[in-house]
Amino acid sequence: MSDTRLPRDAESVLKLAAQSMFELFSTMSEGMMLVDRAGRVVWINDSYKRFLPALGVAGPDDFVGRPVEEVVPNTLMRQVVETGKPILVDLLTNKAGTFVVSRIPLRDAGGEVIGALGMVLFDHPEATLQPLIAKFARLQGELDEARKELAAQRRPKYTFASYIGSSPAALEVKRQARRAAQLDTTVLLLGETGTGKEMLAHAIHAASSRALKPFIGVNLAAVPETLLEAEFFGVAPGAYTGADRKGRDGKFKIADGGTLFLDEIGDMPLSLQAKLLRVLQEREIEPLGSNRVAEVDVRVIAATSCNLKALVDEGRFRPDLYYRLNVLPVRLPSLRERLSDLEALCESLLESIAQRTGMPQREMTSSAIGALATHEWRGNVRELRNVLEQATMHTDNIRLTSEDFLSILPSARRESPRPALRPLPQLIAELEHSSIRSALEATQGNKVSAARLLGISRATLYGKLAEIKRLSN
Ligand SMILES: Nc1ncnc2c1ncn2[C@@H]1O[C@H](COP(=O)(O)OP(=O)(O)O)[C@@H](O)[C@H]1O
Ligand SMILES: [Mg+2]
Repeated sequence: MSDTRLPRDAESVLKLAAQSMFELFSTMSEGMMLVDRAGRVVWINDSYKRFLPALGVAGPDDFVGRPVEEVVPNTLMRQVVETGKPILVDLLTNKAGTFVVSRIPLRDAGGEVIGALGMVLFDHPEATLQPLIAKFARLQGELDEARKELAAQRRPKYTFASYIGSSPAALEVKRQARRAAQLDTTVLLLGETGTGKEMLAHAIHAASSRALKPFIGVNLAAVPETLLEAEFFGVAPGAYTGADRKGRDGKFKIADGGTLFLDEIGDMPLSLQAKLLRVLQEREIEPLGSNRVAEVDVRVIAATSCNLKALVDEGRFRPDLYYRLNVLPVRLPSLRERLSDLEALCESLLESIAQRTGMPQREMTSSAIGALATHEWRGNVRELRNVLEQATMHTDNIRLTSEDFLSILPSARRESPRPALRPLPQLIAELEHSSIRSALEATQGNKVSAARLLGISRATLYGKLAEIKRLSN
């Protein structure tokens, strides 16, 4: 018989099989390459050479010897060397096109991984593997789209130029913020509501070395206490059954490399304060339900409208966290402290209102500026914006005068209204409103202490504030 030349012992059979398979692959494949233990290309075969121009490489001499990901974008060869696990079939897309590839670890006699063999099984798979490739391309396209959208959302919305004002107080705050942008330390923004803390946080990020990385904001007052920890640190896969089975990244992870803006830091529960302190010190996070820590590189910008030092004295804020956050405090001036900026602010805000509403842009007369200058501006620039918006709704006048603000700004009224009998619910609402205002004033905006002063719960206070805001909008 003619099978006399076929060996019968296992070792020879396997050797023969390996050799045949290798020959089959090498003739069938469109190209092969070998990388060493360090992930450097050490060899390519002749047919591989025709991919070099599309990869932007002049010739084999510029290819062999280089770290593989430098010359083949998106390759997983290094992963195969590092894990010792083959990737039998995969789609690789880079500037040279899309390829069906196979990657196999190579081991020495002792079983140690000494390198990996990569094969291009098909190039132009769009011709041979049409349905698969079409689906892949569609998913890839959707992913790219989603990534772009996310990146756009995370792009900083403001720069220092958006912070309007040339009063000494405004110039000083911009100077401090510019300095903060150059350093990579934690920043604490202090200022009443509506003074531009969030805006400045965006601007600091945009001017920092992290500008191309994400800017992520969390408002501590807006997230229910029970969800905060997961929101911050994420949830490990399998920690919960149900919707979160797959696990979820926390804000620290999402902001990795970039900036995390913690708004209303005074509202952070004590238990979480301890964990935040740990992240700031150790630069690592531990997702819920996980027993592993992960490193993160995040710059924190915190903001508060309340007196943090007072919270520390009351035992509601950890002193160690306070000192950690207070490395670089930046105090934002209230609008009352920089009334000379009123005109420039109005001009900028009226321009943005006109753009947003599509209505003609209004101008301020000096009588209008005069009227605004007498107001208290507890809500600062945010309140100013609301007032200008209301005035634009009330009149078609292009040039706004003090008259246009009389009904909107009670304190700008020339004569106080005659005391008259008014419906009781209205009187009660007004009394509530003014008491809440005074309580917030007395506590420098600290809602927790204000609620205590008024003898109501924090939740009730938030409800009433939301109601007041709704009525004044
Ligand atoms: N200096 C400023 N120049 C222009 N607009 C400002 C300025 N400060 C605040 N604003 C505007 O006022 C509003 C409130 O600002 P924001 O940054 O949210 O304040 P905060 O976080 O302190 O409550 C935003 O619409 C913002 O654009
Ligand atoms: Mg804010």
